Formats: sequence, structure tokens, C-alpha cells
Amino acid sequence: MIPMSLAEIAQVVGGTVVHDCAVTVDGPAFVDSRVAERGGLFVAVVGERVDGHDFTEAAFEAGAAAVLATRETGRPGVLVADPVSALATLARHVLRQLSGVRVVALTGSQGKTSTKDLLAHVLTEAGRTVATLGSFNNELGLPLTVLRADRATEYLVLEMGARHIGDLRASCEVARPHVALVLNVGKAHVGEFGSQEAIAAAKGEIVEALPEDGVAVLNADDPLVVAMAARTAAPVRTFGSAQEADVRYEHLRVDDLGRPAFDLVAAGERVPVTLGLVGEHHAGNAAAAAAVALALGMPLASVATALASAATVSRGRMEVHQRADGVTVIDDAYNANPDSMRAALKALAAIGRGRPDARTVAVLGEMRELGASSQEEHDAVGRLVVRLDINQLLVVGEPAKPLHLGACLEGSWGEESVFVADNEAATAWLREHLAPGDVVLFKASNAAQLGRVAEAVLADVAAGPATGPATGEEIGR
Ligand SMILES: Nc1ncnc2c1ncn2[C@@H]1O[C@H](COP(=O)(O)OP(=O)(O)O)[C@@H](O)[C@H]1O
Ligand SMILES: [Mg+2]
Repeated sequence: MIPMSLAEIAQVVGGTVVHDCAVTVDGPAFVDSRVAERGGLFVAVVGERVDGHDFTEAAFEAGAAAVLATRETGRPGVLVADPVSALATLARHVLRQLSGVRVVALTGSQGKTSTKDLLAHVLTEAGRTVATLGSFNNELGLPLTVLRADRATEYLVLEMGARHIGDLRASCEVARPHVALVLNVGKAHVGEFGSQEAIAAAKGEIVEALPEDGVAVLNADDPLVVAMAARTAAPVRTFGSAQEADVRYEHLRVDDLGRPAFDLVAAGERVPVTLGLVGEHHAGNAAAAAAVALALGMPLASVATALASAATVSRGRMEVHQRADGVTVIDDAYNANPDSMRAALKALAAIGRGRPDARTVAVLGEMRELGASSQEEHDAVGRLVVRLDINQLLVVGEPAKPLHLGACLEGSWGEESVFVADNEAATAWLREHLAPGDVVLFKASNAAQLGRVAEAVLADVAAGPATGPATGEEIGR
């Protein structure tokens, strides 16, 4: 953060300074006292379960310089009626001072965090980059990310989530993007939005916020995203596998660990790329990241080199672990919706095809927030497991049961689909049934905590050698 006195902060947010001992804030803002940094601004947020004000002492012990709060804490700070909106105001103000920063905003139904991580990795090669940490893309995460930028920052990469109409408009008022990327319009949160069209209406707000000299980067493979071209004053660049995409991936194939390799084609140039990430859907994410980096002036060759060295940085997204006994665990348990389930299952099937001796096992739990279509979507994923020829399905938890029923109906499966009531039962089943060579995918909405089962399975046997970079060898499928 750029250094600011409490008087300046109070003026910007319309607050009152308390206990000022000539304090300057020069560290990042934070809401969790456990991640305090020296000189930072502790923002006391009143949540559903805890009141941030109660952690003020802990925050100061950990190095906070000041607190942004609604009430007196006995510590130097600024008092406001609403610290969350004050934080947004402060972020907007600070970003206006940082005229050298190029802001990239990205949204989509799935792949935001993966693509954000890829893009941040690529742009780091071109200049000092600050990006959203993990999936911290809401009304708190956004200003906190912006406030980590300083005068040395060249690129600010912001993952933006949208749960309602107007969310992205508000986010873009805090940080107006120069480049806005829309990945896809899927079915995530369709329960809240009502329809895919409503989701598209909400996601398109990000390109409406662009200035005329900005760039809208849109997915050529997704009709609802392509249609957003009509909603922006900025020029449009497209990415994807479609022939007409400005930044294209061609000749996609995956290796025996499910890692995609392809040619990246843009403006008549072609470079081969092999990713270290698992799942063919990352080819599209990589093309999206490349389109943004190219729009910001990076040469294609540097983009390709950087993409190839990217590794998973945010946890629980197709994280591949090898147990010493040869069991491969793919932890994708951070999140799940119908589209990401399909992507992950396809990756598992591809790995299985590349290793004919391996048994593929899908451990799946509930996909949340699907509203009225929940039962149908779970049923469809269960059927897909059978059609993809995955060898074993383990369905965990009552809300996910239609998955098991779908698989049974599709394949008249017997023991190949097993239902267990909870994570303990799942762990026990896996302990009994996993065998060397098995490839096991864990996936569910985060609330199901399937990642814990993955951890337990991994802890049973020590880790083997780390997964090396992809070789890029075609496996002929
Ligand atoms: N382009 C994509 N299409 C479908 N699924 C994807 C795509 N990119 C990532 N995924 C999968 O979606 C899930 C969520 O990925 P993540 O990058 O965290 O997205 P988000 O931040 O949008 O929730 C993961 O299971 C991941 O493997
Ligand atoms: Mg995310």
C-alpha cells in the first residue's frame, strides 16, 4: 500500500481519527488478524459469527499500525459507519493515485482462480504484478487486493465474482479495468440467478465498465460470452478453440497425467505449449491468459514460455499427488458445479486412457447452489461417470445421492457405484479398497469438505516423488 497518514485515510473515507500518534499506514490492509503484516491497516468487520473488533489487540500485536472500525478500540485508527464500504472507497482512491498500474479484471462461471493464477504467473514475466490471493474475489477481497498495490506495481490482476446483478458494476467502480476477461457463462449459482441468461447479464457488466481504449477479452467458444461484444465500447479480442478466435489453441492432446499440450496461435504466429496443470480445460484458460497478456503487449514467445512453467498455486484445484505405493490422488475438492465436474471427470478419464493398467476412481460429493435443477444435474453427472468409463464411483453424502442413482440407472452398475453417508465412511471405504496404481479424483462443493478425505488418504502412505513437468508427449487420442 502507498503510505498514508490516518488524517488522509479519514478524509478519504469520511471518518474520524482516534488516538493518532502520528501513525502512518504503509503495510497492506487485512481483515484476519492472523495474516497481519507490519504497518498494515486492520479492518474490523462484524461478521455473522465473529466481531473483528474483538481481534484488534491480536492485530496490533502482529504488527498493525492502525484500525478501521465502527467503534472505539483504544488503538489508533479511523472510525466509520461501515468499514467494508470505507475499504472500497479507500481502494478506489489509492488506485487513482497509481496511474502506472494496468488493471485486468476477470470473471466467469468456472476457471476464474485457475486463469487468474496463470495470468499472474505470465504477467510477472513482464512486470511487477499483484493479483487476488486464492479465490478472495468478493466485496472484501477486491479492495484488499487493490490495496496491496503500490507505486512499483505494473499489473493488477483482479478475480471478480458475481452473485447478483450489479455486483460486477460495483467491483468495477472500485477498480475500473483496462482489460476485462470473461471466461464462460455456466451454471454456477444458477439457483440464485434464475437462468443462464441472467448470469450472462450479470457477467457482461465487466465489459460495460471498460473505457474505449481498453480491451474486452471474450471466449469465442461460448455464445453467451461472444454476445457481450455488443455491450462494450472497447475493442474485442477473442480466445478459444474456434477457428475465428484471435488467440487460438489447436491440436489439443493430453499426456498420461492429464496435462494438456497444444499449439498457441495468434496473429499468424504459432508456438507449442505444454502445461504443467491437469485437465484439458486448462487449454482454454491458458488461451484466455495469453489473450490478455498479448493485449498488454507481451510477445507470444514469452507468453508461451511462462505458461509452460506455471504450476498449481491455489489449493484444491486439480492438485496431483502421488503416494509412494503408486496411488495417484487428484484433489479438486475446492469447488464443484456441473461444468467443472464434467471437466474434472474428463481429465480423469483421459488419465485412465493413458494408463491402461490403472483403475480410475471418482469420489464425488454434493454440488451446492443448483436450485431446482439440483437433482437433475447430479443425476446427469452420475450418468457421465458411466459413459466416460470411469472404473469406480464413490458418492459421498445424502445430498449427492442422485449421482449414485444416475450412475446405477445408466449402467446397471452394481459394486461399481457405491454410496456412503459421510466423509468418515468414505475414508474407511477408500482405505479398504484402494490399490497401487489407482487414480483417485476428489470433487464436490467446498462445503462437503472432501479435501479432508483426500488428505486422509494421502496421509495413509508417505508421498512419492513429486509430479514432474509435463513431457508433452502425445498419447494418441
Ligand atoms: N475452463 C474451465 N471449464 C470448466 N471447468 C473448469 C475450467 N477451469 C477450471 N475448471 C474447474 O472448475 C473448478 C473451479 O476452478 P477455479 O479455477 O477455482 O474456478 P472459479 O474461481 O471460477 O471457481 C475446478 O474444479 C477446476 O478444475
Ligand atoms: Mg475462484
